Amino acid sequence: MSKDTLTITDNRTGKTYEVPITHGTIKALDLRQIKTDAEDFGLMSYDPAFTNTASTKSNITFIDGDKGILRYRGYPIEQLAERSNYLETAYLLLYGDLPTQEQLAAWEHEVQIHTLLHSNIEQLIHTFRYDAHPMSIFISAVASLATLYPEARQVTDLDKRHLQIVRAVAKVATIAAFTARHNQGFPFNYPDDGLSYVGNFLKMMFKMTETHYQPNPVLERALNVLFILHADHELNCGTNAMRVIGSSQADPYSALAGASAALYGPLHGNANEEVLRMLAEIGDIKNVPAFIDKVKRREALLMGFGHRVYKNYDPRARIIKKIADEVFEVTGRNRLIDIALELERIALSDDFFISRKLYPNVDFYSGIIYQAMKMPMAMFTVLFAIPRTAGWISHWLELLCDSEQKISRPRQIYLGPECRDYVPVEERQEREKVGCW
Ligand code: SDX
Repeated sequence: MSKDTLTITDNRTGKTYEVPITHGTIKALDLRQIKTDAEDFGLMSYDPAFTNTASTKSNITFIDGDKGILRYRGYPIEQLAERSNYLETAYLLLYGDLPTQEQLAAWEHEVQIHTLLHSNIEQLIHTFRYDAHPMSIFISAVASLATLYPEARQVTDLDKRHLQIVRAVAKVATIAAFTARHNQGFPFNYPDDGLSYVGNFLKMMFKMTETHYQPNPVLERALNVLFILHADHELNCGTNAMRVIGSSQADPYSALAGASAALYGPLHGNANEEVLRMLAEIGDIKNVPAFIDKVKRREALLMGFGHRVYKNYDPRARIIKKIADEVFEVTGRNRLIDIALELERIALSDDFFISRKLYPNVDFYSGIIYQAMKMPMAMFTVLFAIPRTAGWISHWLELLCDSEQKISRPRQIYLGPECRDYVPVEERQEREKVGCW
């Protein structure tokens, strides 16, 4: 009769151990009993970059990387993209289910009345150089919210915590728009309660001197879908950062700044900007084969391709590719899409990519749409961070309520020098450098 256990024989001692298997995992701590003698610390697991380690149980997002499945709280991403909007999806992620009409109205109202920024944040944004990267401004402004709401440090106080959730979701869009306006040297457009969350963001981004700005409904819809698709993605790099920082009970704004900083990496959320740079560098379809060869010679990455979890087509990329045509109907076709489509066509038929299961990810097509919508390229990762704020906070809340969680503190394998005595400076010899720096 099969048992949900793992039997381990330590060939160093001949001893056998039986450890339980739950949810397809064994507890790393169950390895500690495996020792060679009483002095032995016991076994640990070694998993750089957590390629095969679950660090939490979660009810938020389900991904099946082989089948290309993505669900938020059980709802398929394709249905949410088709029928929901970002603020409703944010509620779903944060509170576990789709809101009733009353709950949705109350949520929309609460977010709406918190979209304004304290003038200190506006002044902070103005202190940056005009060409400061918007992600650096965004990270700084989000962190500085903690200076205005010190009660956010009371992370176990339910009412205070709820207020920070609403403030964060509401204010990241205003911070993003004000950042873009600062970069462009334009005055800030203040939030407009008469518009939806995404419509208000578009107005704050693009209103100039027209007396009545009305967002284009096709672009508002497209941005809603893009925000839905970017809202969460289980334990990605940025969300892991959110959880690690949140585990010390730091305030949510400091944790959000850390998560945003992780997202800013070119291997993570900043890939959408790098994709545009790559497409612009390729410049023409006829240069695609040469670029593919460059990638295969390891001289460049095919930005927007590959994923730690998806070993199939990222379902988000499939949806984004479909939205592109709707946006281009309004904005005119972005010719970079032709280069992207040719890159995808060649890559998906080339064994270098097939054997490594490299497919387009969420970042491959999103930047092309943002550019067509006249979003500045440097803003693309900020456009990722706005909706991901809902996912980051959802994981932060789940962490705080999880009795199995405590402050995050991994172990290491120490390979440095053994104990050695201090050497007076006059007796020291030049030694070989350590590491790659
Ligand atoms: C996001 O985790 C998430 O969920 C993230 C995200 C989210 O919603 O939060 O989905 C958002 O970050 C999407 C990923 C955006 N990044 C990029 O598009 C940058 C380009 N992609 C790669 O850097 C890479 O694919 C990663 C970082 C996305 C994944 O890296 P892994 O899982 O560590 O894979 P790997 O580096 O071990 O690659 C396996 C092989 C290697 O070749 P070999 O050494 O085995 O011969 O594939 C190669 C890699 O060199 N490879 C690539 C490649 N990605 C992987 N080769 C060329 N171009 C690429 N893009």
